[in-house]
Amino acid sequence: PVDVGILAVEIYFPCHYVDQAELEEFDGASTGKYTIGLGQTTMAFCTDREDVHSLCLTVVERLMEKHRISYTDIGRLEVGTETLVDKSKSVKTVLMQLFERSGNSDVEGVDSTNACYGGTAALFNCANWLESSAWDGRYALMVASDIAVYPRGNARCTGGAGAVAFLLGPNAPLILERGTRSTHMQHAYDFYKPNMTSEYPLVDGKLSAACYLVALDKCYKLYKKKYYAKHSKSFTVFQADAFLFHTPYCKLVQKSFARLVMNDVVDGQHNNWPSLESHKDVELSETFFNKEIEKAAMKASLKMFEEKTKPSLNLSTRIGNMYTASLYGALISFLISHSAEKLIGKRIVLFSYGSGLSSTMFSIRVGDKMNQLKRLYTGISDVVSRLDSRTKIDPAVFDEIMALREITCHTAPHSPVADVAAFFPGTWYLTNIDETYRRKYERK
Ligand code: ACO
Repeated sequence: PVDVGILAVEIYFPCHYVDQAELEEFDGASTGKYTIGLGQTTMAFCTDREDVHSLCLTVVERLMEKHRISYTDIGRLEVGTETLVDKSKSVKTVLMQLFERSGNSDVEGVDSTNACYGGTAALFNCANWLESSAWDGRYALMVASDIAVYPRGNARCTGGAGAVAFLLGPNAPLILERGTRSTHMQHAYDFYKPNMTSEYPLVDGKLSAACYLVALDKCYKLYKKKYYAKHSKSFTVFQADAFLFHTPYCKLVQKSFARLVMNDVVDGQHNNWPSLESHKDVELSETFFNKEIEKAAMKASLKMFEEKTKPSLNLSTRIGNMYTASLYGALISFLISHSAEKLIGKRIVLFSYGSGLSSTMFSIRVGDKMNQLKRLYTGISDVVSRLDSRTKIDPAVFDEIMALREITCHTAPHSPVADVAAFFPGTWYLTNIDETYRRKYERK
């Protein structure tokens, strides 16, 4: 099959959010720390009515309904998540309930887990199947979803929640480019979840940001090398129209784009960046905590960042970190910030990072199938109005809801107590966990 890639996209985020400026005050943090220092405006969160199953049920059913896809037309379904509930039983099997009425149980794929990277693993598994001898002519479906929560303290403001679903197949308007996918995998204890009865990770925030930047450097260097081997031409930030990143918080993404520019400078492209010329001989691996270089690179790259990356942060700044779904929410954010016509022929570079750690840089080319691209757009025309219609919750109430989740997230039996009145129509929610931990859901 040719032009394997993304045919349709959907995003779901909870209807409740907390305001980051109010959270700064509630947490006793200095004014501007979360909003300016980390670049976050609001943060989505779930009550005890939602878990990773319900988020995935909602996003998949929305996608299938909007694009009138039959469940019999799906041959592979892959889920990326790190918000495990039943551990040995994949979220994918829960989603098979949606397929029951169609009679289609011939659906390959299970879950992929490694922090925020699972969505990328799911995406690649879908693409690999479509390009393989096992492909039977049907669509693949990639789902990425997480609930990002932290204990009280400095990391809590970098939470979030949401789910993304992509329909994949051949002749797609968003084509996965071949031959340049570049990966870096390494052992690191920067963020992990060893406590099986808690939703919270153990996280070394500073180390996780440093690991993210190490992985970015490695993947970008390799991407440049593979691009040169394929096109006999150097790759620099000028060769792509968009750079999207896994987004734990927006400020890290701005630093990351600046870091790509610094990579280009050190790689001999300093003529394009005169203000950074004095840094052209630095050893990049020694600059992760160098504020002078970081500031200079952010200043020099600001205009290009605003054009090629900032539009991808419109959702992240309002939703927060969606872990596996974060990078793919950034793609949706970038798409809805531009008209379909403007994107034809553009190259979008994506950087995926999952702590622990696994990372890949890869790219998407927007093809010239205008009708298909427009169809993809109709599916996400409601995203901004949905965001605007969310319900703001007081930080003190948010704090109580988090305290309840701590007790109930892995407790059986449990009857959820949160109100469902504010939920968007079509939202799946948890109605009961019985004494053997079996979960039941209903749809609003
Ligand atoms: N006004 C403006 N800016 C401020 C203010 C203020 N009043 N106060 C602080 N800042 C700035 C700081 O200077 C800093 O910016 P800089 O890094 O550019 O210097 C930024 O706000 C954050 O302040 P810190 O003191 O560094 O924040 P802290 O260490 O308390 O926590 C952290 C931040 C580490 C990100 C924490 O929230 C965390 O651990 N989050 C979870 C881990 C994470 O997201 N890691 C990222 C990659 S891995 C993943 O995706 C999970």
